[in-house]
Amino acid sequence: MYNYYLLIFIYIVNTSSGSPRVLKYELNPGCGKVCDERNSTTFHLRAEGSNDTLHYLWDFVGNPSVLLAVTSKTAKLNIDWDKYLTRQPKSINFTEDPFYTFGVTIQKIIEFNDLNDKGSIDNINDSNINILNPVYFNWTRKSKKQSNGFVELDMSGHNYVDPELNISRAGEIEIILNGFCTLEHSDVVPHMLHSENSTQVDFIINHFRGNSSFEKSRFGLELMIVSVGDPSSTMMIDTKKSLDDEYTPGIFETVEMKTPELNTERKKSESGYLQWRPVSYLSSHRDVTSSTETIHYNLVNCSNIYNNSLLYAFYGDESNNLLINKINVTIGSSGDGFYKKTNYATWTFLVGYGNPPGEQFSYLVILIISIGVGLPLLIMSIAAIYTCIRRLPRREASRLINT
Ligand SMILES: *[C@@H]1O[C@H](CO)[C@@H](O)[C@H](O)[C@H]1NC(C)=O
Ligand SMILES: *[C@@H]1O[C@H](CO)[C@@H](O)[C@H](O)[C@H]1NC(C)=O
Ligand SMILES: *[C@@H]1O[C@H](CO)[C@@H](O)[C@H](O)[C@H]1NC(C)=O
Ligand SMILES: *[C@@H]1O[C@H](CO)[C@@H](O)[C@H](O)[C@H]1NC(C)=O
Ligand SMILES: *[C@@H]1O[C@H](CO)[C@@H](O)[C@H](O)[C@H]1NC(C)=O
Ligand SMILES: *[C@@H]1O[C@H](CO)[C@@H](O)[C@H](O)[C@H]1NC(C)=O
Repeated sequence: MYNYYLLIFIYIVNTSSGSPRVLKYELNPGCGKVCDERNSTTFHLRAEGSNDTLHYLWDFVGNPSVLLAVTSKTAKLNIDWDKYLTRQPKSINFTEDPFYTFGVTIQKIIEFNDLNDKGSIDNINDSNINILNPVYFNWTRKSKKQSNGFVELDMSGHNYVDPELNISRAGEIEIILNGFCTLEHSDVVPHMLHSENSTQVDFIINHFRGNSSFEKSRFGLELMIVSVGDPSSTMMIDTKKSLDDEYTPGIFETVEMKTPELNTERKKSESGYLQWRPVSYLSSHRDVTSSTETIHYNLVNCSNIYNNSLLYAFYGDESNNLLINKINVTIGSSGDGFYKKTNYATWTFLVGYGNPPGEQFSYLVILIISIGVGLPLLIMSIAAIYTCIRRLPRREASRLINT
């Protein structure tokens, strides 16, 4: 049992360092009537720490985006709304230059006809692929709430109408964003381990109508990822395996995409990351029995930012000191019955600053280790005491036992 206390002690020491950040949010900061009339959503979340502030911008004016900026405590966000709503570059800035910024945009929603049930979009020809532009959804707020440990924004994209191709689609895409101030596992399966340094993006395809000429539809996303840094450096993807699936039943892998570490005046290494578990749930109960896999593809270099999102409004046309990559992720694997089986699919990922937090041993594992190591130790000690006592002369032994 000695190990047990030692591990618990280490755990407490690990998690109790530093005071928690304070979460504050504002909807459409400084916009007023114009945004109310347009029903537009630009959500500004601040996680204020003792030395710096983490700003998260969740935006649905352009393609759904998350921008993360680390600034001094005094820096303020500044949006020139007239310019921003007409999609002009550099219409968003901070009153002081941020120490580090990192952003992600959902660039495309991809639908493909997986004729040979391979699960992958590789080798699918263009006529079996449809590209949906997230900006053609009507994005409305379902809810926003704040509690002690987190802030949540629930967005619904519906009434998809693509004026270029004259295509409309019924059904919904839901995106639930969460910001936190503690190191904890999310309540929502796959129970990602989040901290104050990350935003969780829960992407749900909820009875969104597929292409009726596609018999074997699957969906996917194209993300664009932007970080300050050397354009010739590379982002990296790493798949970590674990022995423990307590938090995400049946899933023993975590995929991490990290930006290269950047030397800045303030810190030796600034970086950002995406993190997810390669799983998609096919019903809102999120059981392991109705789940399938997700697949990610290679990172692709980009030379500039598309002008359809908040990232363009913030970074502008310049790309000399930006590292810009795209990545595709698709949902589904061979034999899962395709999207049409349930007409529902999820994908959950974290957008974070710094290094992704490492999984602590769970209490269950600690208990198992303690029993595994502690119990034999205990038995050995008892056995040792017993033999010692037996070896003593009889009178001595009974005296020992009686006292
Ligand atoms: C805040 O800054 C001080 C001095 O620069 C440093 O000693 C301290 O560790 C920092 N605290 C945090 C939480 O980063
Ligand atoms: C369905 O896919 C076909 C072939 O790619 C395309 O021509 C058509 O516009 C799509 N229909 C819808 C509703 O997306
Ligand atoms: C604005 O959004 C709300 C839901 O948040 C919706 O009920 C309402 O119809 C929307 N208004 C317009 C003009 O789109
Ligand atoms: C767009 O599609 C609808 C039916 O899907 C059709 O009635 C309409 O004429 C089309 N408009 C154009 C400009 O092609
Ligand atoms: C991106 O481009 C840089 C230099 O232009 C190159 O070193 C790097 O390998 C490329 N990365 C990928 C993923 O293609
Ligand atoms: C959050 O990031 C800061 C700065 O990189 C780091 O000091 C802190 O330990 C991180 N918090 C967690 C829980 O990882």
